[in-house]
Amino acid sequence: MNILICDSYGHLSEKAAEMIARQVNTKPDCVLGLATGSTPIGTYAALTKLYEAGKVDFSRVTSYNLDEYYPMSPENPQSYRYFMEEQLFRHINIRPEATHVPDGATDNPSATCADYDRQIEAAGGIDLQLLGIGQNGHIGFNEPGATLHASTHLTPLTEDTIAANARFFSSPEEVPTHAISMGMGSILRARSILLLISGKNKHAALSQLLSDKVDPLCPATFLKLHPCVTVLCDREAYDG
Ligand code: F6R
Repeated sequence: MNILICDSYGHLSEKAAEMIARQVNTKPDCVLGLATGSTPIGTYAALTKLYEAGKVDFSRVTSYNLDEYYPMSPENPQSYRYFMEEQLFRHINIRPEATHVPDGATDNPSATCADYDRQIEAAGGIDLQLLGIGQNGHIGFNEPGATLHASTHLTPLTEDTIAANARFFSSPEEVPTHAISMGMGSILRARSILLLISGKNKHAALSQLLSDKVDPLCPATFLKLHPCVTVLCDREAYDG
């Protein structure tokens, strides 16, 4: 695991955007794995700037997002599909049909999940997977106790995650209780992984990641089993 400590969230975001742009410039028809949450917002803004400056072209890129609430319609402003449109897709030249977010409105989640993994495989697999991390060490919605080989699946959210995500809703009761998430197995199949960690509240999770233990109670530690992971963290997350 490669760890890079950035002075600030702004610096982390620029660095992450540069790394993603480098991936796209090296392989214009690459497959990106994308994440939502507050951490990648700065990265998406920096990527948009690089696009506007003519430094990166997304016209041949395909993307797969990590997760979506369930049940959730894509038009709902709380949906991860809506988030991606607002934060990134509508600002760059990625083809709308090449962007994928798990279907939170499906009435057959297990078929939807199996199909998502098949589609990723048929697209040639993910070249670069962008990730954030939960305060409890979750990755996507692979919560503490997650299994290493899980593929895309429907999963209940933990109380901790519902509480952490309540800030995006008017009340905790409105946070969906489930999500469709790529599993740790699907995530670890990506050829390279870029994990962003920002803020004091992520210090404990980062410390566990830097320890030498792989612990299913902190699913992020499974990333230690992958040969090509870069962790970009800011000072606040590193120093605590
Ligand atoms: C988002 C996701 C989540 C977030 C995590 C951190 O697609 O899968 O695992 O990465 O909850 O969220 P923020 O960045 O809001 O602290």
